[in-house]
Amino acid sequence: DKAGHKHFMAKEIAEQPVVLANALSAYLSGDSLILPEPGLDFTKVERLVMVACGTAYYACLTAKYWFERLARLPVEVDIASEFRYREPPVTKGTVALFVSQSGETADTLAALRYCAGKADTIVSVVNVETSSIARESDLALPIHAGVEIGVASTKAFTCQLNVLFLLALEAARVRGTLDAHEIAQLIGSLRAMPGLFNAALAVDPALDQAARKIAPARDVLFLGRGYMYPLALEGALKLKEISYIHAEAYASGELKHGPIALIDKDVPVVVFAPKDSLFDKTVSNMQEVMARGGKVVLVTDAAGAASAGADAWQTVVLPTVDERLAPLLYALPAQLIAYHAAVAKGTDVDQPRNLAKSVTVE
Ligand code: F6R
Repeated sequence: DKAGHKHFMAKEIAEQPVVLANALSAYLSGDSLILPEPGLDFTKVERLVMVACGTAYYACLTAKYWFERLARLPVEVDIASEFRYREPPVTKGTVALFVSQSGETADTLAALRYCAGKADTIVSVVNVETSSIARESDLALPIHAGVEIGVASTKAFTCQLNVLFLLALEAARVRGTLDAHEIAQLIGSLRAMPGLFNAALAVDPALDQAARKIAPARDVLFLGRGYMYPLALEGALKLKEISYIHAEAYASGELKHGPIALIDKDVPVVVFAPKDSLFDKTVSNMQEVMARGGKVVLVTDAAGAASAGADAWQTVVLPTVDERLAPLLYALPAQLIAYHAAVAKGTDVDQPRNLAKSVTVE
């Protein structure tokens, strides 16, 4: 049942405020995290290894920024199909964490089995609680996204981010890298996120307009720095899988190391840049793009739009958010740009060619 939407993907994007609010109430009691049994004691953790595929991998990449910055915990992130065949050393003191919506992705499951008996603890972050990956973990953390039908993952991504952020906060609390006041503040910001999601969904007409401009392009570039870099990767993946437009993402700082050669008037560039601590650097990369005739869709907040929006092809203004939580909020415009571009092109949004919802072959 698409609940009045044209596609499951549209329904699942629109559901995110409600789904996230539910997920938050499942995991939080006041400012304390509630974990399923047997829980996880971060005092003994020396290293976190996170493994996944596709969108779930981008959730892990985002979480690396959180665990490192907030909890000062060393983190490695890898794609399951690379990790498993590389046979990397997994030493004591390591927690191995696997993220999977379906819980059945063959490469992720094989990577988990490789770590079993080597890592101290096997943790999974899953949507399907009865899945193989959940069953074979010491601790399985449900994301509570509800059934996801659209092949392109949307609400599962934001709900994965939610659980990973909460885990990073817990690690920070136990390791003493954030004090109780800072943790309470971040939890307060997270509790405000469903409201911000609603505000972001209200920006849909501007995102639709941007997507229609992008839709005729053959190639699109996505740029972001810091927390916005994994999100740029996710935006590019969403666009290519459902609209079949070739899209690539780069960390903004990498632009001049090669991809800037691609820039001309026919390659739209989507820049995710809230006015955070790295904003000025991203804007200077954006200006390098515009100086070469590149057309920029700038996704930012009011302060960012006021200081850099004037020259963009189109500026989309999102609510202001704590920069550490921006990946959750900016996921929505990434999803909606892809969705509207696909609708403009008339592709099969919920069942894109060559793709399956659950990849149970290697
Ligand atoms: C992208 C997408 C895929 C999945 C990937 C992992 O929109 O849906 O990239 O994220 O196949 O699937 P799970 O999370 O089920 O392991």
